[in-house]
Amino acid sequence: MVKAKPRRLREHWGSRFGFILAATGSAIGLGNIWKFPYITGEHGGAAFVVVYLICIIIIGLPVMMAELAVGRTAQRNPVGAYKVIRPGTGWFLVGGLGVLAGFVILSYYSVVAGWVMAYVFKAITGAVTRFTADAGGAAAAKGHFESFAARPGLSVLWHFVFMAICTFIIFRGVRSGIEAASKILMPVLIAILLVLVVWSLALPGSAAGVRFYLVPKITTVDVGPLSIPFFQGLTWSAVLIALGHAFFSLSLGMGAMLTYGSYLERNADLSFSTATIAVADTVIALLAGLALLPAVFAMGLAPDGGPGLLFHTLPAVFASMPGGFVFAILFFVLVALAAITSGISVLEVVTAFTIGEMGWRRRVAAPVIGAIIFVIGIPSALSFGAMDKFRLFGLNFFDVMDYLSANFFLPLGGLLIALFVGWGWGPKAIKAAAEGSYHGFPTGRIWLWMCRTITPLAVAAIIVAKVAGVG
Ligand code: PHE
Repeated sequence: MVKAKPRRLREHWGSRFGFILAATGSAIGLGNIWKFPYITGEHGGAAFVVVYLICIIIIGLPVMMAELAVGRTAQRNPVGAYKVIRPGTGWFLVGGLGVLAGFVILSYYSVVAGWVMAYVFKAITGAVTRFTADAGGAAAAKGHFESFAARPGLSVLWHFVFMAICTFIIFRGVRSGIEAASKILMPVLIAILLVLVVWSLALPGSAAGVRFYLVPKITTVDVGPLSIPFFQGLTWSAVLIALGHAFFSLSLGMGAMLTYGSYLERNADLSFSTATIAVADTVIALLAGLALLPAVFAMGLAPDGGPGLLFHTLPAVFASMPGGFVFAILFFVLVALAAITSGISVLEVVTAFTIGEMGWRRRVAAPVIGAIIFVIGIPSALSFGAMDKFRLFGLNFFDVMDYLSANFFLPLGGLLIALFVGWGWGPKAIKAAAEGSYHGFPTGRIWLWMCRTITPLAVAAIIVAKVAGVG
């Protein structure tokens, strides 16, 4: 039975299924539907998808299990957890890095989520389905999005609305808010995506998009006397972005899964949870790409349309579809909800930290942190209009936040978490993670071995190769 005396009652998930839903809800979000299609479009299509899938398997899975195991064992926030498992060491700084990343990520994530919510209203008023081929199609939809995103008042307002909703849910606590919502949303989201996939594959001209998305172009590279087949045009930058996105999409590297794991009872099965979350997340991302990229080609747009791609392409797709008006509303509602179930998991990391380490009460922590993140996000909300001219390394403020957090903070956080499990915690980690798990398969040993070797080495190699500027 329960050995450790509960020092303070910690809220737990209502059921195991509830946890899986909430964690899947955290993973599935704008990363899958908004970001994955557009970065795949920008970085060459199929080869990028292959690299992304490899990153999920050799890096994403072990790190996910690491976060869940640390959280479940320590029953603490990301900073407190390391202090419990390895007291008196510097490992807690890894958690601190995650908390910082939480501020950065949510600040711009909320801006995109705000656009999505605005598009719910545009869909209801018919503004989304206005872009039929006669009315200028995707090109006109693109113009519409760009002038919308450039309006400072609107972007900031919708960013505020999204932060207010997340803050309210986190203010109420883990269970009543987070768990209940996810149950219905995920199945409906999958159904809508499937309809969109079928429709966009049926559009004339979509075949080029399918090839771009799913068939990698191979060339040969000469290494000394050998000619090795390799993906054409794949760069280290693209590999780093695929890696960063694997972390982003699975909600890893900043303690979100760690925090959700800390609300788990000790008998929950970690390997099964890890696999379920990762598979669901990957399926949704792949479907979103298949719904979007063939349509991009069919509509005569370029696949490298950047962060607006979703908002350029889909209105034209909906406008061409029977029942498009209803689908458009449903789709944007679901994406907004998926964004909320992800946004709250980021906010919960920071909130749990202030509650656990600084002794704040939840009812104070949530609004204070929500307000701070809203303010940090304002420059991102203005990045496509009023602050368009502000550039760092050629990127606007929004893109800097996105690039830094996804491609630097998260991979570094994940690298350190893997090292913590592999070398800081060591074989004891296997025992801790094994409770309630494994079904006789040596998952634990494989996992520990990966956390010690391949996983951190792969992350380090990609970061170093990119920083050293190899290709
Ligand atoms: N995984 C979420 C998405 O794909 C975003 C996220 C990142 C959530 C990091 C939590 C932590 O939309």
